[in-house]
Amino acid sequence: DKGNHRHFMAKEIYEQPEVISHTFGHYLDLADETVSLPELPFDAKEVQHISITACGTALYAGAVAEYWLERFGRVPVSTDIASEFRYRETPLAPGGVTIVISQSGETADTLASLRYAKECGQKVVAVVNVPTSTIAREADVVLPILAGPEIGVASTKAFTCQLATLACLSVAFGRAKGVLSAEDEHKLVRAFMEVPRLMTEALKLSPEIEVLARTLAKARDVLYLGRGTNYPLALEGALKLKEISYIHAEGYAGGELKHGPIALIDEKMPVVVIAPHDRIFDKTVSNMEEVAARGGKIILVTDPKGAEAAPVNAVQKLILPEMPATVCPMVYSIPVQLIAYHTAVIMGTDVDQPRNLAKSVTVE
Ligand code: M6R
Repeated sequence: DKGNHRHFMAKEIYEQPEVISHTFGHYLDLADETVSLPELPFDAKEVQHISITACGTALYAGAVAEYWLERFGRVPVSTDIASEFRYRETPLAPGGVTIVISQSGETADTLASLRYAKECGQKVVAVVNVPTSTIAREADVVLPILAGPEIGVASTKAFTCQLATLACLSVAFGRAKGVLSAEDEHKLVRAFMEVPRLMTEALKLSPEIEVLARTLAKARDVLYLGRGTNYPLALEGALKLKEISYIHAEGYAGGELKHGPIALIDEKMPVVVIAPHDRIFDKTVSNMEEVAARGGKIILVTDPKGAEAAPVNAVQKLILPEMPATVCPMVYSIPVQLIAYHTAVIMGTDVDQPRNLAKSVTVE
């Protein structure tokens, strides 16, 4: 049932404030303002290395978590595409932890990676949506994301609920490692509790995005840029646009612009910049100046301070409320998803069932 929506994808985008509050409700102790996870089959304090592996959108959720786990837990993390991880035979020292992330819990490469990690003596944490799935059954511990059934082939609410779950896991590591104080944890928990409200605010950008999408629908290629945790979000934005609108898009870390993709920029090339006003915002401003100088059209997803500090020329702005950096990837996902959605609707594609794609990729 699509409710009042034209597509399951729209319904699932709009459901996010509600479903993510269930996810947080499951992993947070609201009275104590602490994270409360099920018992883990390892002592987080002793973990020396974490590997993360997944495919597609789930991989990008993992790539965001890499920043969080390293920042909060001060533990080295490597994130890999599951189809590479399984064949690379990367050495994994016993005592390490592998996190596999999968909406369906049936993705062939992710499952094979889980089995490889177990053979190497890793403890496997599965972050899944389908609790009865093969990946859930074979993991040492399951952290369900509780997003409810996701019908649209393009993953939306599963992504943000994966992020919510991984954020809680990262805080648990931070606490166990003694990096986060009790006060740091309370602050983060309070920030997490604001996410549903912030997402509701973000959804109000939909009419503006619908207008912007007319420009995107005319483009042959679109570039997405971000730095830090917004870099995986740029990758996710590009994936989403490709998959449902069939417009070629690429995601890049802002710092890589000069190392190649800048050669593509001209008046025909829209560039979506995902950049809240953070400590590296001025670096992103130089990226935007470089794009504007070459006639590129910029769509900047930012907050009021970022909107003020952005170069004035050639920038269309989507402005979200100011928020703590840790919750940005969850909330900024909403405009990123809506950009792809509205563009695809204009293109007239089969949004929920894009050509050549399957919801669950159970073969290699
Ligand atoms: O079920 P999984 O999360 O393991 O699926 C992984 C990818 O196939 C999936 O995220 C795919 O990239 C989506 N269609 C993206 O929207």
